[in-house]
Amino acid sequence: MAEQKATNITWHGGHIGRKEREALLKQKGATIWLTGLSGSGKSTVAVAAEAELVNRGHLAYVLDGDNVRHGLNKNLGFSPEDRTENIRRIGEVAKLFTDSGVIVFTSFISPYRSDRDEVRALFDDGDFLEVHVSTDIETCEERDPKGLYKKARAGEIPEFTGVSAPYEAPEKPELVLDTGKLSVEESVVALIDGLEKLGKLG
Ligand code: ADX
Repeated sequence: MAEQKATNITWHGGHIGRKEREALLKQKGATIWLTGLSGSGKSTVAVAAEAELVNRGHLAYVLDGDNVRHGLNKNLGFSPEDRTENIRRIGEVAKLFTDSGVIVFTSFISPYRSDRDEVRALFDDGDFLEVHVSTDIETCEERDPKGLYKKARAGEIPEFTGVSAPYEAPEKPELVLDTGKLSVEESVVALIDGLEKLGKLG
C-alpha cells in the first residue's frame, strides 16, 4: 500500500455522480484488466475491443503499458518496485475512468499477483474484470513483435518478464484468452459477452 503523505486534505464531492454520467452515456463504467506476457496480444485485443464498442455507440478507452510509460509513468522502470508503482497508478487511473462511466481496457503485463489484487480491491464487485491473456511464452517469443525477446535472450534487456523476471498467472481470472488459439475477433466477442453479462452495455 502506498503511504498517504498529504495531510489536511478533504474529499470534495461533485453535483453530478456516476449514475448521472452513466445515464448520459447509456452504459456502465467498468475496468477490464488484461494481464499477460509481452507479445501475448493484450494491446491488440484491447484496441480491437475498444473499436468494436465505439462502433456500437459506447465510450471505451485503452490504457496501454508502453503508452503510459511515455508520459504519466515515464519515471518508472522495470524493477519489482517500479512495476508495483506502475500498476498502482494505473489502477487508480482506471478507477477514475470507471467512475466517469467509461469502459476501460488496461493493457499491462502486471506480472505480480499481489499488485493486481491491490487494484481489484479498489473496485466494487462487478466493476473489475481480470482477464488473463494466457498465450504461452513460445508463441509470444515466436511473434516477438518488438524484437525484445531476442534482445532479452542475448542479455541486452535485464529483468525481462518470462526470461529473467517472473510472471505470476492469475488464480481466478474472470476470463482467460489464449490468443495462440483464438482469433482477435473471437477474443473481442468473449470480452463483449463478459461486459453484456455484467449489464454494462445498457
Ligand atoms: S509491467 O510489468 O510494469 O506491467 P508494462 O506493461 O507497463 O509492464 O510494460 C511492458 C512493456 O514494456 C513490454 O510490452 C515491452 O514492450 C516493454 N519492456 C521494456 N523492458 C521490459 C522488461 N524488462 N520487461 C518487460 N517488458 C519490458
